[in-house]
Amino acid sequence: MSDTGGLFVRELERGDGKVLRIGQLTSGDVGCVVWDAAIVLSKYLEAALDFGAPEGHRTKRVSVLELGSGTGIVGIMAASLGADVSLTDLDELQDLMKQNIAWNQDLLTGTCRAKVLKWGEDVAGYLPPPDYILMADCIYYEESVHPLLKTLKDLAGPETSILCCYEQRTTGRNPEIERRFLELLERDFALEQIPLEEHDAEYRSEDIRILRLHKTHG
Ligand SMILES: C[S@@+](CC[C@H](N)C(=O)[O-])C[C@H]1O[C@@H](n2cnc3c(N)ncnc32)[C@H](O)[C@@H]1O
Repeated sequence: MSDTGGLFVRELERGDGKVLRIGQLTSGDVGCVVWDAAIVLSKYLEAALDFGAPEGHRTKRVSVLELGSGTGIVGIMAASLGADVSLTDLDELQDLMKQNIAWNQDLLTGTCRAKVLKWGEDVAGYLPPPDYILMADCIYYEESVHPLLKTLKDLAGPETSILCCYEQRTTGRNPEIERRFLELLERDFALEQIPLEEHDAEYRSEDIRILRLHKTHG
């Protein structure tokens, strides 16, 4: 990690040796730093998914919407792999996301923009449904469970794949929040846990899960 003008920089090397440079703030709320689940999901995207430019039967780029992007590392990785990405988070994270998009612009073969999306609020501006919804470390406080589920239901279409990566925390209310979220999620989505062996060989951890979700109705 290096320090650049008040931002602590987290570097993440891609398999081809190119390096994402992600600024983190020295103070602020949880979205100002890169969380381990974001690293795991970023490297999973690189290892397992083809977000490449249009080819073969595909006539347009893969569209990706990330929820609770924080620094934007996951979506920026997706855009560096060729996807058209919307990073979303609260208003106070917009400058950091925009800064990080700018820092990594040279690596992007897709597109990347930052927008405000507060869970539970109107998603009309984000439709039609994206091909992928990505979320890293977004299940962590009780009040967000219902708004986050509403946003997932409102955004996802029948063809949307949702990749939800999170660290299983054992302290405080965390296990209860995770259990509640998954229980409610299963009412509208089919859940499949991606086996650890399919995660990136280096960036994986027993306590970090990646779920793939598909809407079952609605
Ligand atoms: C633990 S951080 C994870 C950030 C990033 N995904 C990562 O893993 O590095 C959770 C993120 O969710 C965002 N968030 C929390 N509540 C939200 C809400 N109601 N609407 C939109 N974003 C929210 C926070 O601002 C923060 O960026």
